[in-house]
Amino acid sequence: MNSNPHSKTVLITGGAGFIGSNFVLDWIAQTGGSVVNLDKLTYAGNLGNLESLKGDTRHVFIQGDIGDGELVRRLLAEHRPGAIVNFAAESHVDRSIHGPADFVQTNVMGTFSLLDEACRYWQGLNPSERERFRFLHVSTDEVYGSLGPNDPAFSETTAYAPNSPYAASKAASDHLVRAYHHTYGLPVITTNCSNNYGPYQFPEKLIPLVILNALDGKPLPIYGDGLNVRDWLYVRDHCEAIRLVLAKGRPGETYNIGGRSQRANIDVVRSICHLLNELRPRLGGDHASLIGFVKDRPGHDRRYAIDCGKIERDLGWKVRTDFDTGLRETVAWYLANPDWVENVRSGNYQRWVDLNYNLRGRQ
Ligand code: NAD
Ligand code: TYD
Repeated sequence: MNSNPHSKTVLITGGAGFIGSNFVLDWIAQTGGSVVNLDKLTYAGNLGNLESLKGDTRHVFIQGDIGDGELVRRLLAEHRPGAIVNFAAESHVDRSIHGPADFVQTNVMGTFSLLDEACRYWQGLNPSERERFRFLHVSTDEVYGSLGPNDPAFSETTAYAPNSPYAASKAASDHLVRAYHHTYGLPVITTNCSNNYGPYQFPEKLIPLVILNALDGKPLPIYGDGLNVRDWLYVRDHCEAIRLVLAKGRPGETYNIGGRSQRANIDVVRSICHLLNELRPRLGGDHASLIGFVKDRPGHDRRYAIDCGKIERDLGWKVRTDFDTGLRETVAWYLANPDWVENVRSGNYQRWVDLNYNLRGRQ
């Protein structure tokens, strides 16, 4: 973003989650700008991810819901951000199968309310601020549905065909974001990324789940035949892409962001086992002996793959981290951070949040 101080404060929603917290850390480190971080602190939100920012006045945390219009209006008026980056969401496909209502509430209704407040705020800015303002909506490749083995990768013009309640709720939010641009002129940009991995990912998702189960000598559950393919994107590469899109992306456009690293699930799990055999050998032998195939996820999408040619061509972004390097860094991070793991799993971090924030109340 440009050098005007107005534009250097960003409102990040979901900034205590996996990608959001990586982005908050990246933004402050790379731009020196400030972050107003609005996060509801659901089970997936963890202020421990932002421990290194303790006492840093460039990070203001507010516990709250993106669907709380009054709160969002107050935050926008008070902090006057130059951009909003919307990471807040219910994000786990399996949870959306067991309980889709929360997904519709946050991903659809919450995004709608946030957009509405953003639009009102944007309309009240002066012309040069209005020109520079961005609403960046972080979405997923899952809105495009499932690919066969030889289908071309998803591009920005692939038709939407969401299959899970999670994907459908994200698709609905993408449509609302698009409509706010076409109808009201709100300068929105949507990014659709592939599966992220890296530090601070909650251990309900495949990679951290497998690392931590393996360390505990527990079974490594593979859904179905293990041949479903995902396109893995290192979270720090993703953060860099979002920064670039904020700075150079064209309002009204969408950008696909992928890792150029398609892997079958079984191969991902075997790679984790190899790394652990090297970095944390197991007394009982090969970690891969813990692999077990379990009942498939209902409606399990077979393959995702992202064509990220547009962001490469138009904005000059490039994947920096190949999958082997990123996975090694990720495994090493989980091994080096047992306290983080312990807190996430025991629920201690939630008690810490209660202790630290209940007395202060909401801003
Ligand atoms: P996450 O589940 O780790 O974090 C979500 C965060 O949003 C949590 O901190 C949670 O407390 C917060 N939140 C949830 N509901 C909220 C609400 N109503 N108001 C305010 N905050 C709320 O998710 P993530 O993996 O970091 O994903 C971030 C975004 O990226 C999501 O929009 C997701 O759909 C998208 N995405 C993620 C991936 C991935 O691989 N993780 C891939 C593609 C797209
Ligand atoms: P996940 O990390 O849940 O991401 P998504 O469903 O958004 O792609 O799952 C990644 C892949 O791993 C997906 O094909 C489902 C599969 N998977 C397993 O095989 N076992 C597991 O225990 C989990 C959580 C996922």
